[in-house]
Amino acid sequence: MGDTLRGLVLAGGTGSRLRPLTYTRSKQLLPVANRPMLFYAIEALVAAGITEVGVVVGDTAREIEAAVGSGAQFGCRITYIPQAAPLGLAHAVAVAAPFLGGHPFLMYLGDNLLKGGVSDLARRFREADWDAAILLTAVPHPEQFGVAVVDEAGGVVRLVEKPAVPPSNLALVGVYLFRPVIFDVVRHLKPSARGELEITDALQQLLDRGRPVHAERVQGWWKDTGKPEDLLEANRLVLEDLSPRRAASAQVDDASHVSGRVVLSDGVVVRRSTLRGPIILGPGTVVEDSFIGPFTSLGPGVRVSRTEMENSIVLADAVLDDVPGRIDGSLLGQGTRVTRRRMAPHAITLVTGDHCIVEVL
Ligand code: G1P
Repeated sequence: MGDTLRGLVLAGGTGSRLRPLTYTRSKQLLPVANRPMLFYAIEALVAAGITEVGVVVGDTAREIEAAVGSGAQFGCRITYIPQAAPLGLAHAVAVAAPFLGGHPFLMYLGDNLLKGGVSDLARRFREADWDAAILLTAVPHPEQFGVAVVDEAGGVVRLVEKPAVPPSNLALVGVYLFRPVIFDVVRHLKPSARGELEITDALQQLLDRGRPVHAERVQGWWKDTGKPEDLLEANRLVLEDLSPRRAASAQVDDASHVSGRVVLSDGVVVRRSTLRGPIILGPGTVVEDSFIGPFTSLGPGVRVSRTEMENSIVLADAVLDDVPGRIDGSLLGQGTRVTRRRMAPHAITLVTGDHCIVEVL
């Protein structure tokens, strides 16, 4: 019991819109600037002074546990909470109730990235008597989110999940603070049209009960990484704040040109190439006779030769050789090979998994 704020990070779900990458890995472990996006969420909680963090996991539990571990690497203690099926955010709260006990808590969706963090909101929540606090931001497509109606004083009037006709352009961001009254609300919640227990409906019920729900606007940027273009944008936003770094073991020859903010990790080799930041090259990445342009993250062990690319995310051990044109806006999974066919017939040869996307010149 007590008033200490606990953390709850949601890392279940199927990530269907990020297939095929999510066939083989958890959505929340997809890298943004070469780090699993889930790590940014856990770090935000720790920065807000939270040391006990529950991570709700589904089918990808083992992979998440292997990456996140005990929490020692973040300075917190992690408890894993299995959710048998992805039945909604309010269902996750119900499943986590034994871990959360009588504590107030901060729930953070593991596929959300927030530049400004959550420390200020957590501090104000600790001092206030709100039963819930949420973050809002104006979006071009509110129908894809939970939507809030606020009055002139900024108070929350109404909340609705993915309305066909949005009553405002203010989306609920995936960060929520609750006091324990929420457990009683989620126990009585009915599934929505999409068959989930919606946290937005739970918040609306708090309002119906006359309980105080506080809303603030996001400071800085926010990104929900549901789709490939969102992941690329999150990558751009994080790389925008990159501090340049060159490992002592990174080698760049005299025929190469490096400009802008560039991170060269251990064992990177760059020959006869142009690197234009912001970019990050993971450990052991080799770049030869190539151009790597802004907003590119190359994972560990990637090899790029005779190829131009920018604005892309490449996972570990992929190989790109002599690719015509320029690679742009691309997400390449681990061990992917993209090369030029040298022998006749001069055809395009593809071996793709399910739900891959290939756009040729
Ligand atoms: C969930 C919430 C929605 C919120 C969004 C933020 O949507 O249901 O209210 O706006 O997260 O990322 P979902 O990811 O389930 O589509």
